[in-house]
Amino acid sequence: MKIDLDQFVARRKALMSNMPADSIAIIPSAQMKQRNNDVEYPFRQDSSFYYLTGFNEPDAMLLLIPGRASGETVLFCRERDKLMEIWNGYRSGPDGAVNDFAFDEAHAIGEIDDVLPALLNGMSRIYYSIGQDEELDQQIRHWLNLIRGKVRQGAVAPTELVMLDHLLNEMRLIKGTEEQDLMRRAGEISAQGHVKAMELCKPGLMEYQLEAEILHHFAMQGARQPAYSTIVGGGSNACILHYIENDQPLADGDLVLIDAGCELEHYAGDITRTFPVNGQFSEPQAALYSLVLKAQKACIDLAKPGVLWDAVHDCSVEVLTKGLIELGLLKESLEEAITAGSYRDFYMHRIGHWLGMDVHDVGDYKVENQWRPLEPGMVMTIEPGLYVAADNMDVDPCWRGIGIRIEDDILITESGCEVLTAAVPKEIDEIEALMASA
Ligand code: GLY
Ligand code: MN
Ligand code: MN
Repeated sequence: MKIDLDQFVARRKALMSNMPADSIAIIPSAQMKQRNNDVEYPFRQDSSFYYLTGFNEPDAMLLLIPGRASGETVLFCRERDKLMEIWNGYRSGPDGAVNDFAFDEAHAIGEIDDVLPALLNGMSRIYYSIGQDEELDQQIRHWLNLIRGKVRQGAVAPTELVMLDHLLNEMRLIKGTEEQDLMRRAGEISAQGHVKAMELCKPGLMEYQLEAEILHHFAMQGARQPAYSTIVGGGSNACILHYIENDQPLADGDLVLIDAGCELEHYAGDITRTFPVNGQFSEPQAALYSLVLKAQKACIDLAKPGVLWDAVHDCSVEVLTKGLIELGLLKESLEEAITAGSYRDFYMHRIGHWLGMDVHDVGDYKVENQWRPLEPGMVMTIEPGLYVAADNMDVDPCWRGIGIRIEDDILITESGCEVLTAAVPKEIDEIEALMASA
């Protein structure tokens, strides 16, 4: 399962159709990052660059120049190099980029200083996401100054610099059918990974051993990398929202919270499940868990086209706060607890985020300063949680140190939403039955 070359070409065309004549877009690839001597971090292509190119090498730059007679799409990339390829692997080179990725023109990246100022000359507008790469920001300023220095010889310097993010992010926010298929599969693989962890779990295992089980499953299913650092938090570690140490033993009687998702062809899954290490929820664990599940289901029921982004979050706040009052964790009235924000002692994050090539994907949450209505093709997470700090002396001791989050990925459809991650159980009896049968 892969995005076809036609799609990448169509995306470039669609972006250019939103750019005026005499404009140019500059989109850089990601760079390799050094880890320590002679060792680099695994390469992950920049999502926007990949979205438009399908080209998976560092040290590259895409230019889009709508209406340019001699070629609208230009790629700069690494040259072929026999020695470097023996050491570090295959490079497409400019000829390969044109033949295999359908660019109109390609050059060696080393020629960019010679070629780019001439391409910028006469353009009125540059589309570029300034502020993400200081070195490139400076390089672009340098190229502009070169043109400005030649105005008396007839050069015409661009007058407008426009953030590219907005146009591109809106495209990435609405997923096409091929993207939906990939995300459905990323959701399935991620879900099965969580099932494996539930099946393996028992007291005494280390948190990182559940992580290893999940990552092994992802890779065996064709998704080599996770979409983000896996969180496996036993007991009160679940109350640390970005806990990734994962180095503690799992204790009998505790819950374990796992937040893990695979990355498949640059698309993310993002699932959280919380379950008992010994396979059986205690009463207080079940009470809090049932409340989070109720909120999560209410939000999923609500999510459909036209519903405002914030309304989904507000739904989670209302259900959770009401339940916290019923369980005695909050003492105020519903209105007071929501207005004063005291529920935030237990629910301190938002209901979710856009999901796509980045786990916290691009796309505005407000349009003209209003919360945005959901639209078919958007993918988002629904992930309410409750976290009772181990040192919270204001609550009954039975609640202390319990952290619960339940997270699924949903695709907004014409009439409602599709849960992409339904293949891992979240009902208490289903989880207990799965763990008992393992
Ligand atoms: N795994 C990151 C998140 O749930 O937002
Ligand atoms: Mn998550
Ligand atoms: Mn998430």
